[in-house]
Order: sequence, then C-alpha cells, then structure tokens
Amino acid sequence: MCGIVGVVSDKDINEKLYNGLANLEYRGYDSVGMCFINGSGIDIKKGVGKLHEVNSKINFLGMPGKVGLGHCRWSTHGGVTEENAHPHIDCTSRISVVHNGIIENYSELKEELEKKGHKFCSQTDTEVIAHLIEESMKDGKIEDAVITALNKIEGSYALGVLYSEEPDKLIGARNESPLILGIGENENFIASDVPSILSYTNKIIYLEDKEIAVLTKDNFKVLDLNGNVKTKEIHLINWSAEAAEKGGYEHFMLKEIHEQPVAIANTLNERLRKGEVKFEKEFGLSDDYLKKIKRIVIVACGTSWHAGLVGKFMLEELAKIPTDVEYASEFRYRHPLLDKDTLVIAISQSGETADTLAALKEAKKLGAMTLAVCNVMGSSITRISDGVIYTRAGPEIGVASTKAFTTQLCVLYLLTILLSKLRNTLSQEQINGMITGIRKIPLQLQSVLDEDDEILKCAELYYKKPNSLYLGRGVNFPIALEGALKLKEVSYIHAEGYPAAEMKHGPIALIDNSMPVVFIAPQDIYTYKKVLGNIEEVKARGGIIISVVTEGDAEIPKKSEHTIFIPKTMYTLSSILSVVPLQLLAYHIAVKLGRDVDRPRNLAKSVVVE
Ligand code: M6R
Repeated sequence: MCGIVGVVSDKDINEKLYNGLANLEYRGYDSVGMCFINGSGIDIKKGVGKLHEVNSKINFLGMPGKVGLGHCRWSTHGGVTEENAHPHIDCTSRISVVHNGIIENYSELKEELEKKGHKFCSQTDTEVIAHLIEESMKDGKIEDAVITALNKIEGSYALGVLYSEEPDKLIGARNESPLILGIGENENFIASDVPSILSYTNKIIYLEDKEIAVLTKDNFKVLDLNGNVKTKEIHLINWSAEAAEKGGYEHFMLKEIHEQPVAIANTLNERLRKGEVKFEKEFGLSDDYLKKIKRIVIVACGTSWHAGLVGKFMLEELAKIPTDVEYASEFRYRHPLLDKDTLVIAISQSGETADTLAALKEAKKLGAMTLAVCNVMGSSITRISDGVIYTRAGPEIGVASTKAFTTQLCVLYLLTILLSKLRNTLSQEQINGMITGIRKIPLQLQSVLDEDDEILKCAELYYKKPNSLYLGRGVNFPIALEGALKLKEVSYIHAEGYPAAEMKHGPIALIDNSMPVVFIAPQDIYTYKKVLGNIEEVKARGGIIISVVTEGDAEIPKKSEHTIFIPKTMYTLSSILSVVPLQLLAYHIAVKLGRDVDRPRNLAKSVVVE
C-alpha cells in the first residue's frame, strides 16, 4: 500500500514528482524516496518520515533530472528504516525500482539470487525485483529484462523501473496493484492514481494485470508478459485538479464532509427521471435479469461494508430481495454458495481494495453476476464487474471515508427504487415519494452541517474521554458502527458501535458517569420508543448522553446532555443525514487531540494488500 509516481520529460521534473507524491501520501507515509537518471548513473535520496519532513532534511526539490521515480511507503516487508525505503537498486546501481504490492515468492527468489552472488541491502521484497532484473539483463533492452523477471514473480505489484544505460526510458508494470499511465505534452507519467498527476495531464491509460509500459517523453507502448504489443484506449478524465486540493479547509476530511451536499446532488444528477431511476450504460444489467434475481450478496470492507448493511435494509424492506452483507475478506475464503440468480454487489470507494477485488473474482468464478458501486473510474473493481454504478463523490483524499459513504448510500437507494419498480414491490405513488425524499437530501444535509457549533461543543467537552459507545437500531445500527469507526480511526479513541437493544446483554457493564454514549435515534415507526427505553437505562447509570434525533423531537432532548437535530425524512434516508454529525464529531475530537486527521497512524486509504 504505497504510492508511486514516475515522469519522463524534456524538462526538469523534481517538482512534478514532489507534488505527485504529496497527493499520494494518503497511500503510505512512513518513508519516502526519489531517484533521477543523471549523466553517469542514478541519484537516489530517501528517508524515514513524511514527505515534507524528509524533504526538509535532504531537499528532493534540489535534485535535477528529466527522468525519475518517486515513492511513498506503507511498510509490509521490513521495518520502517531508510534502507527499506524505496527506490531499491541492483548490485551495479544501474537499475532502480519502486514497488507497491507484495511479492509472495520473494524469499525463494532472494535465496537463489544470493547463491548467485547478489548482495542485498534491505529486508524488503522489492529489492528482489531489482536484482532479478539485473540477473535477466542479457544484451537486450530493459523491457525484455523486466518481462523475464516478472515471469518469475508471484504476487501483486505496481512497479516503476529506471535503467541508467537507457536513460530516456521509464518502465511501469502492474499485477493486482493499481498503476495508470498519463500522456502529456513532451512528457509521460506513471502513477498509482489519477489525482496525483491530474495537474499535468487528464489523458489516462489504465494498465491491466500483467502488462508492462515503456514510456519515453514523446511515446509509449504497452506489452503483455510475452512481449506482444497491446492496443490501449486513452481516457479523458473530467475531474479538475482543484477538486483534489484542500480549497481553504484545514484538512481534506473537513472539506470532504462539507462537500457531501454537492457530491450527493452529483450522484443523483440525471439518474432520477419522472417516476423512475435510470443508470448510464456502464450499469450493464438488463431489466430481464434484474426481474429474475433471487438473492443479493454485498461484499465490501470497512466503511463500504457499513454502507452495505444500510443497503440490506433498503433492498429487503422495499425491493423485497433477500440480501446478505459479507466482509469481503471472510467471503473469499469460505466457499460461498452462489449461482447465476445471485447478484453480487461489491462496494468500494477506491475500487482497489484487495479483499473486495478477490471476493468479486471468487463470485465471478462461482457463476454470479457482479455489480460494482465505486467512486474511481477505471479502477480494478470496475473493470472486472459485469456492471458499474459510479458514486460521483469526486476524489476522496482523507483516509477516513466520508462523502464516499453517503454517496454509496444514495446509489443503493437508487438501485432499490429501480428494483422495486421493475419487480412491482412498490406502487408508483410510493416510488414517487422515495424520489421526492432523496431529492431533498442535499439541502437537508446542508442544514445538518450548519449545526457544527453544537458538535464542536461536544468535542471540546469530551475529547479526553478514553472510551465511548455508539448505539442505534434498524437502519441506524450501521450508522452507530460507522460513527465508532470514524472516531477510532482519526482520534485513536476506543469506541464501540452496538445495536441499542443489545446493550443490556453486555456493554451496559461499561457505563458509568465518564462514558459518553451517542444515541442515533431519528423518529421511526419501528423502534423509537424502544430506544427511548435504552436511553433511560444509560441515564440511570450516569452515562453522558449525546443524541442525534429528528427535528421537533421533544422527548429525547430532555434526557440528553447534547442533542443534534436532523431534518425529517424517510426511515431509510435518515441514515444519510444521521451519519454527518458523527463524522464531524470524530473530526473535531481528532483535531483537539492534535492527530494527523488526513493521515492517521497505521492506516492507508486503499488497502491493496490482504
Ligand atoms: O476503498 P474501499 O471503499 O474499498 O475501502 C474500504 C475500507 O478500507 C475503507 O472504507 C476504510 O475502512 C476507511 N478508512 C474508513 O474510513
């Protein structure tokens, strides 16, 4: 889970590499390095720490060069040390390599290479690749040696390679880790994602697994691992580079929380027609198939898995389709029973999460139809699914997912409308009501954001509390899980999400007068009264009650220390509104504690390793 950027140009590129890495730091930030081809060899500088910290010591921006690679690391093999930071070189110092992924057979390869006299300087799996390319170097070209080396490697990789004897070339390769090519004016790029190079080009080529790219400043070719040339399509990206900048906010997370009304409006745009929902051609699933589905299985990880849990409520209650929600990491190893009448939906912001990708491959192997709900165009998950619905949240840079989550909920709601209509499980009047409901959400969400002062007050009072509980029922139980996850990941405070009624089966023992308990309790016809009872139980034991309730609620605020109001909406849609105060609460607490909000310790934005 690292970030890679590489440039071959007719001008100096150090600033482009630096900016590219700054945009990729969400992928890993324990160490960083760059290398450039100079007249006589390869210059490498690297160090432990974040980009700006390392740069202040070794000045990456002072390194001249027109061909180079940059890498930010999230360690898997080998500790966080300067030797283990990338780039890595071969014994002759003529080949340098940056890598994202895991080489599974690296110890066998290393042993063989050591027997042949290769000397290793690091504990990484990546260094094996540099020596393997050196070993494969005959009289041919660097790309031939890379192909020979890659044919011996098992595992996942996105690679950047430089060879000082062919100083005009930049090599990229991918297998199960993302790598794209950017096609510019007298310069070309490789990168782990689109935003990192979007200031320089919006012409993007997506590499497929087991492809290698050979770039010069004014040309490129893509080959398979047999050396055959592949024809590739150039995609024009319509995100602006500014969309990936902080835009005046102190952190990406705060910016992305505030972008939710627009992100949701974009996700709905042109998909809501008179009395129906219509997705674009990428959706790819026919009405006939959708009418026949017997079961839905949702696979996802982390926050996307929480979105799946909300989706289950929508799909079962309204479209009447039995729906299971599985952790992708568990699903892939437990022999699930699937057939062609099961639709498997993979939810992923990045479209690169290794476990979700593997679960999707397993589902396809077992004969199910697959649909991706994804935010990143052209990502691996979207390319292997039978159909795709894009969330249109725009680039999400903060490691804590916010606007991706609420747009995922919107997509699942739209899908529910489509299925309910096709399968006649709701009347047209009910469908019209659902459409009216979701159209109001962007404005209603803005009014929740306007309650930030009350949320900040809670954060200021309770940021030193070491534990907290988040309780909700029904469609707001997944929101309790999501609120607790947000707090854990950005503030490092222990938090648990629970179904409110389960509290009495154990967690109630934790409650005393120092325990904040966040109740997500919008009014509904199902469980509101029961949650009221749960609040009494917590109050009787001295717990500090923070509640998220529907505007006009006169009961719960009387029993709460703090109340955040959300506008009245339909039961299933309340989840989109009620999660926002919890995102803000986590954000403010993390800021009060001085945490690195956008890059929390030990985390990476896309988890592309198992
Ligand atoms: O890109 P994905 O949606 O597949 O990522 C899944 C999880 O890694 C992700 O949601 C993670 O839990 C976030 N850090 C949560 O904020």
